[in-house]
Amino acid sequence: MSVDTGSAGGIELYVYSGTGNTHHVAERFADDARSRGRAARVVMLENVAEQLPAIRLIGLFGPTHGFTTTWPILRAAMTIPNVRGRDAFVLVTRGGTKVAGKVFAGFEGTAAWLPAALLALRGARIRGVGAIDMPLNWTVIVPSFGPSAVEAIVERGDEQTSRFADRILDGETAFGGLGQLFLGVLILPLSLGYMLIARLLLAKMFFADEKCTSCGTCEKNCPQRAVGLRGRSRKPYWTYSCQNCMRCMSICPTEAIQGGQAWLVFYMWLVALPAGAVAAGALLDSVGVTGGVISGVLSLVTSYVWIMIAVWLAYGILWLGLLVPGVRFVLSRATLTSRYRRYKGPDRCS
Ligand SMILES: Cc1cc2nc3c(=O)[nH]c(=O)nc-3n(C[C@H](O)[C@H](O)[C@H](O)COP(=O)(O)O)c2cc1C
Repeated sequence: MSVDTGSAGGIELYVYSGTGNTHHVAERFADDARSRGRAARVVMLENVAEQLPAIRLIGLFGPTHGFTTTWPILRAAMTIPNVRGRDAFVLVTRGGTKVAGKVFAGFEGTAAWLPAALLALRGARIRGVGAIDMPLNWTVIVPSFGPSAVEAIVERGDEQTSRFADRILDGETAFGGLGQLFLGVLILPLSLGYMLIARLLLAKMFFADEKCTSCGTCEKNCPQRAVGLRGRSRKPYWTYSCQNCMRCMSICPTEAIQGGQAWLVFYMWLVALPAGAVAAGALLDSVGVTGGVISGVLSLVTSYVWIMIAVWLAYGILWLGLLVPGVRFVLSRATLTSRYRRYKGPDRCS
């Protein structure tokens, strides 16, 4: 591959982005680099290609989920090739809000420092860690802001990105968010709970209502390949690979994708049932083991398996129920998302 990487060496920016906020930030960083004569390439993690030759600087960009990073970013931090001895930085986006005319920062917790630590462990020289406020995109929980608020938050995010990019491209370091890291570590159990359990329940909130035309936009664009059109009806089904990135809700041309809040409550009830612990107790009794570490670990493992199976079964039943037009209509209208404004991304906010 012959790409002129400029005298200061090329820059490879690896990005995971749901609704486009993080992609927007990475493109802005790349533009700043190009304006200084550096070759910069933005690579979406779902289409990782061969690395540019003569790479000097690696950037890893991702959104904050549950006060920490996402699985795709953790995987990337562990697998991006040729990081040893290279300069690297991590830049995350977090959910900025605009209330009473003021833009407020999101809370990234451990989202930026965790992947930076993994890159450092693999031998990268970390030059910067930062967070950029972009519009909060969690539209299965809260409605999106209107166009003028989105514009104001993006404008502020662009300024933050340019400041960070200037420091890195000038050869300085840019370390931020130590206070956030401290708080993020304190609430790490919450973040772990999000990554291991809540994320699965949230993935199984999604369904398509009667406006769905089976066009396959959600299936084709899911960065995790977690949505597939299934059955004779060709309706979308969400698997546990879903990271709740919100891209499907954001790009669905008929706004047919909903998130069932009532289902979430039902799943939480299922999760709270002590079925896993009861199963573990029965198993241990049958082999004559009581108490101790083995019993604790087995109880945790069986509880986890119980959650996975119970929620998967419940979602399957609900998905089949959705094939009945009247049921689908009622379930769709019973969601908050059917009333919420959708977030269309930083560059398509109207
Ligand atoms: C499931 C989910 C969880 C989120 N959790 C947080 C959070 O803990 N803190 C925060 O500041 N923003 C949070 N956000 C907001 C996103 O990090 C933010 O909007 C980000 O810019 C989205 O980037 P993307 O469009 O590139 O995916 C969350 C969003 C989603 C969808």
